[in-house]
Amino acid sequence: MAEDLRLICAGDDVVEAGHGFRFTVSVRGRALPAFVIRYRGMIHGYLNECGHVPAELDWQPGEFFDSSKLYLICSIHGALYAPESGRCLGGRCQGKGLKPLVLREIEGNIYLDRQYGYG
Ligand code: FES
Repeated sequence: MAEDLRLICAGDDVVEAGHGFRFTVSVRGRALPAFVIRYRGMIHGYLNECGHVPAELDWQPGEFFDSSKLYLICSIHGALYAPESGRCLGGRCQGKGLKPLVLREIEGNIYLDRQYGYG
C-alpha cells in the first residue's frame, strides 16, 4: 500500500481557497502538469489542463481560485470549475470538467495514490 503513495508536498503548502501546489504526474512516460488545492478543508487534485483547450489554468503559478474563492478559474478565457469536483460550471469548458487525481493527506503530508493510473 505505502509503495503506491508518492509524496507531493506538505499539507501546509496548500492554503484553504488560496495558493495551491503544482507538480507533475507521469502518464505512460509523459510528464503532465497537475495541481492540488484545498477547499472547505479537503484537498482536491487535478491535471492542470483546461477543458476548453489543453492549457494550464493558473493565472500566477499556484493561483487557481477566482476572486470569490468559490471557483477555480482558467486564466486564458475564464472557464469556471467546482473546486470539490472539477465539474465545469460555466464558460468555454462547455461541460468538460477537470481530470481528477486521487490524493491522500496523511499525518500532515499530501500524497498521490498511484494505484489510479498516474505516477
Ligand atoms: S483555455 Fe481555459 S477557458 Fe479557454
